[in-house]
Amino acid sequence: MKKKMILALLTASLCSFSACGKDDIGSLDDSIIINEGSLSENTEENNSAEISESASERGYVVTEVPTTTITDGENITPESIPEETVPTPETPSPVTETPAPPSPVTETPAPSAPSVIDYSPSTAAPGTPASTAVLPPDAPTESDYNYGAPPTVYNIPGIKYIDNVLIANKSYSLPADFYPELDQTCLNQFYKLQNDAAAVGLNIYLSSGFRSYETQDYIYNDYVARDGQEKADTYSARPGHSEHQSGLAIDVNQIDDTFIGTPEAIWLEAHCYEYGFILRYPQSKQDITGYKYESWHIRYVGTDMSYKIHNKAVEMGDPYLTLEEYFGIDSYYH
Ligand code: DAL
Ligand code: ZN
Repeated sequence: MKKKMILALLTASLCSFSACGKDDIGSLDDSIIINEGSLSENTEENNSAEISESASERGYVVTEVPTTTITDGENITPESIPEETVPTPETPSPVTETPAPPSPVTETPAPSAPSVIDYSPSTAAPGTPASTAVLPPDAPTESDYNYGAPPTVYNIPGIKYIDNVLIANKSYSLPADFYPELDQTCLNQFYKLQNDAAAVGLNIYLSSGFRSYETQDYIYNDYVARDGQEKADTYSARPGHSEHQSGLAIDVNQIDDTFIGTPEAIWLEAHCYEYGFILRYPQSKQDITGYKYESWHIRYVGTDMSYKIHNKAVEMGDPYLTLEEYFGIDSYYH
């Protein structure tokens, strides 16, 4: 199978890892696996119909994949980890139980759906308010440098999608064996973002990408042991509830509140949508997202959706519009 390996280790202070600040959290250091393993996921018959229907409506071809067609996961060895990112001894070994990756539902843009995919250059204007068009007129087209295809839609039970956007928050969890690795399109789009930031003298680097259920379990429980569950829940997702397990989230740079207000953070917040990302946990939205402000956590949704959300935010005059608000969903542990 296709091997994808981007494995890095983030050493970040636990306190800094949260949005609640170092003083609040303490100084315990933690090592976090940046990207692990390979591809996997689940399917849901209910979901399946919804996904197929929704994808078809959007002009995509959805291929049904039997849940039995799981192939080997990627074996990640210590040798494959860059020396500077080798986990510390106390770090769990998430690679020892690599679940087999499932085959994703193939989602291929259908060229025969111009009425749906309508990116008219003549109407392109960054910042244009959302209209009734299915896709925002200013979103990059497939021929544009910044174009980012929608993430793969997995036909797997237990995963919640809305408009083909995977939802992972406190209300919606991911199956424990969902092990997709960091999405390749997401990573490619991040590289574009990184290059463009570098072109204006900014250094934005990937610090944490994919995290398995097991790794999140370790990290979360470490925080709970230190800060108690109530506090840990404000900055760390319970296992199965982290976007990092979806392979569509990236933490950049120092992953702590010292990132706030830096030129990199300001640029990231202003430009990430141009590459298909959204700032997932913006300031002043803790009651909605369930998490404190994380200036470093971006979520890949593809450029069509990121422009839709951005344009809606412009239209509403709310630069911090969240995924929960856009889709009208909640985020709390039921
Ligand atoms: N820090 C975010 C909420 C996570 O743990 O996924
Ligand atoms: Zn994150």
